[in-house]
Amino acid sequence: MNCFNIFNSRTKKPSKSSPDLGKQNRSAGSPRSILDLYKEKGHDLRKFSFSELRNATDNFNRVLKIGEGGFGSVYRGSIRHPGGHGDPLVVAIKKLRRNGMQGHKEWLTEVQFLGVVNHPKLVKLLGYCSEDGERGTQRLLVYEYMSNKSLEDHLFNRAVPPIPWITRLKILLSAAEGLAYLHQDLEIQVIFRDFKSSNVLLDGNFNAKLSDFGLAREGPQGGQSHVSTTTIRESENGKRLEKTSPLPEPCTPRMVHVA
Ligand SMILES: Nc1ncnc2c1ncn2[C@@H]1O[C@H](COP(=O)(O)OP(=O)(O)OP(=O)(O)O)[C@@H](O)[C@H]1O
Ligand SMILES: [Mg+2]
Repeated sequence: MNCFNIFNSRTKKPSKSSPDLGKQNRSAGSPRSILDLYKEKGHDLRKFSFSELRNATDNFNRVLKIGEGGFGSVYRGSIRHPGGHGDPLVVAIKKLRRNGMQGHKEWLTEVQFLGVVNHPKLVKLLGYCSEDGERGTQRLLVYEYMSNKSLEDHLFNRAVPPIPWITRLKILLSAAEGLAYLHQDLEIQVIFRDFKSSNVLLDGNFNAKLSDFGLAREGPQGGQSHVSTTTIRESENGKRLEKTSPLPEPCTPRMVHVA
């Protein structure tokens, strides 16, 4: 079975050593996980306080809301540059709507994967906020701002002019480049699992970038030919639920073969 043979042609890059490997009791040469890579590369992410992001969005003002998905609402905001100088930076701030395991899991996965990947065709995560206070749990994500929003906003909104075919082709090629990077160019293989038009974001020049890594998974390791994952279904109130169930046959979206 060869449902995902793009992984086959990949030659694994040699593992680099990580200062955290000792703690994890890994033998030399054993493949590193996303967590290992995050410990090495995730330091570039900025850690924001909740009050900083509340100020950045004028207390999550409805006027600044640019979208809403299963995870929560997305706002346009402006933050200070790390050094505190220069004009404020316009960003997109996503606020987790719900408490509970699934939302937190997606938030964590997003931070871990986007803290590791780095490619012009993937949206840049600038930082995050994680606070557990008396007023509850706050989980937010701060991304580069994509002023033309998502491909979905253009394909299905009659109020905006249709995108020319040449631009559509450029968008498709960019999305494919983003996926190819995830499949082939990293030390680990990343299965995106959420490829849809609302997760293809467009900048002011209609350059496309993939977003939303909350459902991403590491590809198979150690000679395995596939990974078994779970289906994602949406409940009536818009919550995304993961459900593990037996596979009726190979090659469903839940099983990704590589051999
Ligand atoms: N970095 C960003 N810059 C500008 N707009 C964004 C950004 N991220 C998201 N958006 C806007 O917010 C909308 C909601 O995004 P979100 O990722 O939360 O949900 P979704 O992808 O539409 O749906 P789902 O949660 O089902 O995957 C997007 O469709 C897009 O219009
Ligand atoms: Mg999205």
